[in-house]
Amino acid sequence: MNINFQKAEFVTSWFGNSGLKLEKRPEVLFAGRSNVGKSSMINKIFNRKSLAKTSQKPGKTISVNFFDADGKAFIVDLPGYGYAERSKEQRHNWGSLIDKYFELDRDIRMIILLVDSRHEPTENDILMYDYLMSKEYLFCVAATKTDKLSATQLKNSISSLSERFGINVIPFSSVSGQGVEEIRAIINDVCQKEENNEE
Ligand code: GTP
Ligand code: MG
Repeated sequence: MNINFQKAEFVTSWFGNSGLKLEKRPEVLFAGRSNVGKSSMINKIFNRKSLAKTSQKPGKTISVNFFDADGKAFIVDLPGYGYAERSKEQRHNWGSLIDKYFELDRDIRMIILLVDSRHEPTENDILMYDYLMSKEYLFCVAATKTDKLSATQLKNSISSLSERFGINVIPFSSVSGQGVEEIRAIINDVCQKEENNEE
């Protein structure tokens, strides 16, 4: 059964200091550096203004945020990385929170890595890519903020990012809505499988 993306709600923020009391459901993760547009993408997918808090000041979210998608799946907003002004301790907390999340052994169906369509991937993007690839989950890359590029710039950006990551990068904009249907289709698809084994 398809997910109704009009039906979403925020579930919980997990800070890693206690167990996660949340039933297992198919999960789709959103990862990417601070300010790349993870929360904006989640809002766009669910057609909501401020389901996930967005901010012009990066590095706000240092928790793993869970959103219920139509009672069928969880969308997981991972804390952003690469926020330069973060202290060493905060960076350490960020890393251990991500590790702890993966140790929960959730029903992870897919990881979506967001990168900025306007720039080459950062060193941290590449580190994150390598880390996530090592987890061996289904994986895709979306390039955000495409509304800020001209058609030619966009074409060049997507082809260079696709080459860099060895995967077809999905252009996305939470302003124009480009890529929304594609991301929804991916979420629907990966969350369908093994549906009958859930309970
Ligand atoms: P953290 O929670 O800090 O990790 O950041 P985030 O990845 O969730 O980014 P967020 O969605 O909060 O967006 C950061 C800023 O970029 C906000 O000012 C957004 O309005 C802006 N932004 C996000 N997506 C887009 C987009 O597709 N186009 C444009 N023009 N701006 C965007
Ligand atoms: Mg965010």
